[in-house]
Amino acid sequence: MKADDIRQKYLNFFANRGHKIIPSSSLVPENDPTTLFTGSGMQPMLPYLLGEKHPLGNRIADSQKCFRAEDIEEVGDNRHTTFFEMLGNWSLGSYWKKEQLGWFFEFLTEVLNINPQSLYVTVFSGDPQNKIPRDGESVEIWQKLFSQKNIAASTVELVTEKQGYKHGMQDGRIFYYEAKKNWWSRSGVPQNMPSGEPGGPDSEVFFLFDEVKHDPKYGPHCHPNCNCGRFLEIGNSVFMAYQKQTDGSFKELPQQNVDFGGGLERLAAVTNHNPDVFQTDLFLPLLDKLETAADVSYQKEAPSLRRISDHFKCAVMMAADGVIPSNKDQGSVMRRLIRKAMISMRKISLNYKDTTLIGELVQATATIYKHAYPQVLQQQKHIGDVMAQESQQFSTALDRGIKKLESLKEVDGKVAFDLYQSYGLPLEMTEELLAQMGQRVDRHTFTEEFKKHQAISRSGASKKFAGGLADHSAKVIRLHTATHLLHQALREVLGGEVRQEGSNITAARLRFDFSHHQSLSEDEIKKVELLVNQKVKENLPVHKTIASQDEALKSGALAFFKEKYPDKVSVYTIGKDPKTDWWSKELCGGPHVASTGKIGPVKIIKQQSVGGGIRRLYAELTD
Ligand code: ALA
Repeated sequence: MKADDIRQKYLNFFANRGHKIIPSSSLVPENDPTTLFTGSGMQPMLPYLLGEKHPLGNRIADSQKCFRAEDIEEVGDNRHTTFFEMLGNWSLGSYWKKEQLGWFFEFLTEVLNINPQSLYVTVFSGDPQNKIPRDGESVEIWQKLFSQKNIAASTVELVTEKQGYKHGMQDGRIFYYEAKKNWWSRSGVPQNMPSGEPGGPDSEVFFLFDEVKHDPKYGPHCHPNCNCGRFLEIGNSVFMAYQKQTDGSFKELPQQNVDFGGGLERLAAVTNHNPDVFQTDLFLPLLDKLETAADVSYQKEAPSLRRISDHFKCAVMMAADGVIPSNKDQGSVMRRLIRKAMISMRKISLNYKDTTLIGELVQATATIYKHAYPQVLQQQKHIGDVMAQESQQFSTALDRGIKKLESLKEVDGKVAFDLYQSYGLPLEMTEELLAQMGQRVDRHTFTEEFKKHQAISRSGASKKFAGGLADHSAKVIRLHTATHLLHQALREVLGGEVRQEGSNITAARLRFDFSHHQSLSEDEIKKVELLVNQKVKENLPVHKTIASQDEALKSGALAFFKEKYPDKVSVYTIGKDPKTDWWSKELCGGPHVASTGKIGPVKIIKQQSVGGGIRRLYAELTD
């Protein structure tokens, strides 16, 4: 089955069950400085899970673009990817476990025609310390569902992974595990959750690839949460009904939510009867290009080819959402992906300087997503330029690093680290090159240096986000409204063709990207700043209204063109009257201050070019 079909069937299935379908949000979360990337479908849904009314009602479904940095090093096996799509459906206090588990089972067995004999499920075994009961309710539901397929589903109490490896399947179908496996929140198990964070027990569905042999290196026996690859998790229904309190206890949320997420790549693999997610139409066009260019076979070089295709595709999807390679934030992650892809290219003797190949890979990605994310195809030229420029820059550094290495008499761990720092030459590659010269690196010193460096950058990062949303939300909200003022001021001063291209707000500053072909003169910057501050002084009220997207756009609201918006949108208007006398109007999810006077004085502190006809301004509050 094609991935496009699976996605569409899923969305239709849930639309037929009263869900409104919303478009995927950007990979870069708007106005959420606590996280660099969208890592799960629920992230953009957070306010609604906590009780805010969703403009489209209480049943929502989508397919969300996600990135998980923690999986970078895992890429190379048959199922880990950094970029993936998460099919999601949400009950915002509407339906509960019976509907959710029943529908997902029906979708798998009746729509995707997956054999129920191959499905195994896990449920939450309870957390006495936090007074959260075990999920017997889901067990009963699962037993009924399996019995309708004439499958006797007995339960097995594994609780920990260790017990799983020790005792194995024991002919079970439904497995109890502890919070480490069957509790979901953005920050993991209950004890790691900050106060205010929602979470809940979950029930996961696994597909068993019987033909895959258990690998005893993981433990004597296989079980659903074993990492050998025999079991593939294909969907997770989170019963998000709890919220952590300031005293550390857990309270039930006023509404019982369902947060479901299922990996599209994995569902494609399952319907394809092949445990390798790379052997699906979400990757094959990229692999084809790479195999031809390198003249290698997938069979022989699967790990490298998987890394190159995953990292490359991921960087392309980031570029399509406005990320530009840099040394900071999202840009640094994108840079790391491109570099890692190039190093893997070199490993299989692929010409990493071949810009034609890079263009072809961008095109292959755009074609894979031409229906789901047409903006990739629309921006193909810009993305190709960004990718080619970055790869060229790194290939020059890489060449210099290799030359330098070859000129050195001795390479100890410290020198190896310097090569990594200054030229981006990873240890693995330094080792490989040295091996060819009959030398070895002292890994211990390298690791020590690496750790020292990481500690420095980590403390930098935590300093940066110490003023994040949680503690200084008032500042972030003030800067957010200031961003709307800035957007309109730029349009007045530079012309109506100025359009927002991106924004990122921390408590310390706002960052605003917009289309403009040249740098701003000092005079222009002054004018923009004056206009923003004038609107602050006027203390104009900020109104929120809900409208259809058409109505909103017709009434003059600005939209962030890279974003696809749902049918019903919220619109923020700044001015005396949201209908007749307004100065700024934008499609936006909020939150904002009630009136512009609350922002206080604003100062533009820096401008930059980010390439591709896009300028960047930084501004801060000065009170
Ligand atoms: N939010 C849940 C997950 O990411 C569905 O697994």
